[in-house]
Amino acid sequence: MRGRIPDSFIDELLARVDIVDVIERRVPLKKAGREWTACCPFHNERTPSFYVSPAKQFFHCFGCSAHGSAIKFLMDYERLEFPDAVEELAQSVGLKVPYEGARDNAPREDKTDLYAVLDATARWYENELPKSTEAKAYCSKRGLDAATMARFRIGWAPAGFDGVIRSLGTSDRRMQLLTEAGMVASNERGNKYDRFRERLMFPILDRRGRVIAFGGRVLQSEQGPKYLNSPETPLFHKGRELFALWQVKQANSNLARIVVVEGYMDVIALHQAGLPIAVATLGTATTPDHTEVLFRAAADVVFCFDGDRAGRSAAWKALESALPRLRDGRQAYFLFLPDGEDPDTLVRKEGKDGFEKRLREATPLSEYFFNELSHDVDMASLDGRARLAERARPLIARLPDGAFRDLMAQELEKRSGARAVLEAEPAARRPVQRPVAVQRSLVRSAISLLLAQPGIADQVERPYGFLRLNKPGVELLAELLDTARARPGINPAMLVEHFAEREEYAALQKLMAATAVGEPETQRLEFFDALARMQQQVIDQRRDELVAKSRNGTLDNAEKTELRELLAARAPAPTAAP
Ligand code: UTP
Ligand code: MN
Repeated sequence: MRGRIPDSFIDELLARVDIVDVIERRVPLKKAGREWTACCPFHNERTPSFYVSPAKQFFHCFGCSAHGSAIKFLMDYERLEFPDAVEELAQSVGLKVPYEGARDNAPREDKTDLYAVLDATARWYENELPKSTEAKAYCSKRGLDAATMARFRIGWAPAGFDGVIRSLGTSDRRMQLLTEAGMVASNERGNKYDRFRERLMFPILDRRGRVIAFGGRVLQSEQGPKYLNSPETPLFHKGRELFALWQVKQANSNLARIVVVEGYMDVIALHQAGLPIAVATLGTATTPDHTEVLFRAAADVVFCFDGDRAGRSAAWKALESALPRLRDGRQAYFLFLPDGEDPDTLVRKEGKDGFEKRLREATPLSEYFFNELSHDVDMASLDGRARLAERARPLIARLPDGAFRDLMAQELEKRSGARAVLEAEPAARRPVQRPVAVQRSLVRSAISLLLAQPGIADQVERPYGFLRLNKPGVELLAELLDTARARPGINPAMLVEHFAEREEYAALQKLMAATAVGEPETQRLEFFDALARMQQQVIDQRRDELVAKSRNGTLDNAEKTELRELLAARAPAPTAAP
């Protein structure tokens, strides 16, 4: 286990970085009054609704509601886990991340050495390639040009059991790193040997262009499994990575469409043919994690599969993983290739234009969806149409709320005639929205306004009268006030990050977004107004309590006096009138 990152460090980090810098380096920003703005990197749009507030150190998109601190931005934009986003930010300002309670024998928190050893290995394979006549001959047989080979860092793992070990495992420490990186395997006797031998090597890069694993291909199909991949390691999780995403991002600053193909060689052939928009999963089915990464890279995702049975079943899996990610503005397409072809062979035959034409004619998800679900039912019969509705309904329910989901529901209705059933179900399945949740309570407003300018906490007097209020969120408000008072100068993003590991975190992020843009002075007044109204509610609550008690005849003398004073201070509420 890597230890916990102390809150104080997150504070220091967020005080040190400027969110405008962090975002500007990735998304060009334009000044707009006190804020900075851009077209949102998290959804597709033509007019900017993405705002970055330097005062609040917070970003917010009015289009898709993405929002958060500099850390959250990195997590979303570069798909990093919280500690990795912290690492990256810290590095950018020259801070070292401290970890609390990490065990001594735990794997290094700092993975720099692991990345370095993988990079050195990739370089070693690259250098080996020109020395091998058969590897060179294979590459030219596959039509790979020098620029492409360099762009993908294609290399060669020579024959022999210890080329990598002898060249790179020159100390115990380096052997340990090679092993941890998945480059070394050992047999039952404990003898260590190179995992990859006599294979053409394809480095797998992460989103930041660092080598995290390899795929290796044999030259002749008789030599065991055609492709061998690195095992799962601390750096490599197959289900999350996409081959060539780095190259795609390097080649396109603004990507409208991304294509998912099945093989390394398919990706490489497409890039070489002038279509640097292709990625591949790593010999696994498309996972929901993949789909999210894909849609963040481009609004249109084309899943490209062989036309055979295996391809069809892989396509349906991809569809299922895409459904929950299909927010409005995102579109998935399916492209099935003729029997016996793959993108590599096709693009060589038909060229860039031919393949682009196929991409343009790819089947939209909705069409593929209904065709696939109705291909074995008799749509002319009532039974058949009912079966279609039965199959489609739970799948449509997995779509996020929005216009696309409505359209799919309408389409099902049109095809199956199953109106009533369809409308009744999703509504009944969704949790009932209580009015409380819709109407923003005073407590929520107060929290939201406090998050906009934590400095105002200083002007709130203690003890907090509102704590007597019997409403959810009052303890949280008090805790936020205390945290803000304890750290003068804390900015909004820092305050929210204090709650990073709490279940309230998501709610706080949302509440913060609600006041991301606004006049500080107005917000300050609104905040004190909310507190004053809460104070009044405390009084009303107490009065109602005492009135109820007096009806039961259980008031003691002190309470009688208190009630009299309360009733005198304010006209009684209609229900309490005699
Ligand atoms: P293919 O065999 O379709 O790959 O497998 P390809 O790229 O067309 O291979 P070439 O053209 O013969 O060189 C598709 C993908 O499935 C994974 C690899 O990721 C491969 O790129 N795979 C395939 C394996 O992991 N192991 C295998 O033995 C075969
Ligand atoms: Mn192929």
